[in-house]
Parts: sequence; structure tokens; C-alpha cells
Amino acid sequence: MIIGLTNQKGGAGKTTVAGHLAYWLSQRGTVIVVDADAQQSSTNWMKDLKLPCKTMIDPDDLFDELPTLAEQYAAVVVDGPGSLSETTKAILSRCDLALVPCKPAGLDMHSTSKTVRILRQARELRVGCRM
Ligand SMILES: Nc1ncnc2c1ncn2[C@@H]1O[C@H](COP(=O)(O)OP(=O)(O)OP(=O)(O)O)[C@@H](O)[C@H]1O
Ligand SMILES: [Mg+2]
Repeated sequence: MIIGLTNQKGGAGKTTVAGHLAYWLSQRGTVIVVDADAQQSSTNWMKDLKLPCKTMIDPDDLFDELPTLAEQYAAVVVDGPGSLSETTKAILSRCDLALVPCKPAGLDMHSTSKTVRILRQARELRVGCRM
């Protein structure tokens, strides 16, 4: 399963959730974290936890390589960047579960609604066409 953490809002909790989720999953099966954020916070955190982690920011790499990683690991946790970039769209195009952390404040909710819009579009594109 590919689990994507996305939200264009910075500081929403993407990396925090990705790290804790990856550790929890690692106690139950194989897991790799894909760090799609140039800040490389997850990459550094996973080094400390000694969990597999791959930095992958290029949208084409994510699109092509996430399915392969999903065949090799029980879970692939993708920590997305704080932007509505092609990178985020590639993650949403490939993930089986999208988690969109959001703080309970007006500005955060407004920003998050744009991410949810892209998520809805990705779902519409993908219905019945998983390859
Ligand atoms: N559930 C939570 N409650 C309180 N603080 C939290 C929670 N989740 C994360 N934080 C704190 O919020 C800050 C930002 O979190 P984090 O780095 O995970 O966000 P992010 O969405 O990955 O940001 P960025 O887009 O910059 O990568 C951190 O200091 C983190 O400890
Ligand atoms: Mg982050």
C-alpha cells in the first residue's frame, strides 16, 4: 500500500504523521519512507530511526517508481512537500491512501481545500484505470 501525506500548507503535520506512521508500520511489516520534500526532514529522521528511506522529488521518478516500491515493501509512506506542485500531483496519482493533515484554523482550512480539490481530480482520473 502506498500512503501519501500531502497538503500545500507548510507545518500541517505531514512529516510528523509520516514518521510516526512509518515507525508503527515497521513494527508490523516492511516499510519504506519516500521523502518527496527538498527539506529532507524525513530523510534525516529515518536515518535516526534506521528505517529505509529514499529521497525522491522528481514527479516523473515518483510516478514511475512508487508502484515498484509497493511491490517490494508492505507499505510505502510518502512525505510530500508543502506545495501544490507536480510532485504533489504525482503522489496523489499513485497513492492508495491520501492523508491530508490540517490544523483547525481558517487559513489552514482554506489552503487545504485546494489540496482536497487536486485529490478529488486524481480520484476521478483514476477510477477503474489502475495500471
Ligand atoms: N498533531 C500535532 N499537534 C501539535 N503539533 C504538531 C502536530 N503534528 C505536528 N506538529 C508540529 O508542527 C510542526 C510542523 O510539523 P511538520 O514538520 O510535520 O509539518 P509539515 O506539514 O511536514 O511541514 P512542511 O510542509 O514544512 O514539511 C512541528 O514542529 C511538529 O512537531
Ligand atoms: Mg514536512
